[in-house]
Amino acid sequence: MLWVGTSWKMNKTLAEATDFTNGLLDAVAGGAPAGVQPFIIPPATALTTVRAILGPDSPVEVGVQNAHWEDAGAWTGEISVPQAADAGASLVEIGHSERREFFAETDQTVNLKVKATLRHGLRPLLCVGEPAEVFASGGSVAHIMAQVAAALEGVDDVGRVLIAYEPIWAIGEHGREAGPDDIVAVFAALDAEYGDRVEAILYGGSVNQGNAAETLGVDGVTGLFVGRSAWQIDGYLDLLRIAAATV
Ligand code: 13P
Repeated sequence: MLWVGTSWKMNKTLAEATDFTNGLLDAVAGGAPAGVQPFIIPPATALTTVRAILGPDSPVEVGVQNAHWEDAGAWTGEISVPQAADAGASLVEIGHSERREFFAETDQTVNLKVKATLRHGLRPLLCVGEPAEVFASGGSVAHIMAQVAAALEGVDDVGRVLIAYEPIWAIGEHGREAGPDDIVAVFAALDAEYGDRVEAILYGGSVNQGNAAETLGVDGVTGLFVGRSAWQIDGYLDLLRIAAATV
């Protein structure tokens, strides 16, 4: 199964979220494309709206972009995994590089969040990625394997885990597109260690309609995690079609 989804990051009003989700609802009315598992990760403000439009039995999984490791308490500004589940999320994105860089997310908090997510029966989408200087010095594989190992420390059953490899140098409007040669070694290492144990191993970072098929052709890549190119419904539906055509 290829997991193909998008995080909207800090984008979309409720009206915009509604438009996108209505388009997706129409597109998956007959079921998701064969072999493809779609998912969308709206901002928390739009979570209940998105879930209400899709309905409880939708083939689309819905997530949150972050959740705290405690179930409840005096943690101003945070939401917990049980709250996310209550609002309709089945998936929790954890450790995106923007959160590690700007919101002091560490390997330790990522590990706590993975455990909290699994404890409540949701699916962690664990994001890992190396900075440009690590890539340039040939340290990508060691960096990524260490990040994943730290995130999964003490987790016995990783069967529900999704790993997203998102090189920091490839993410966002200042990122550069990665070619297959840039990512093949990391996916070989991830696949060898986790390929038959986790749910999927996704690639993210400047994925677009022009490079998606080629990226899915890299050994060990079993999904795409997309930002900008999937923020408009037509772009996202194109990516779902491209993925389905590679199955
Ligand atoms: P872009 O696809 O916009 O580079 O973002 C990738 C990403 O960070 C997905 O979470």
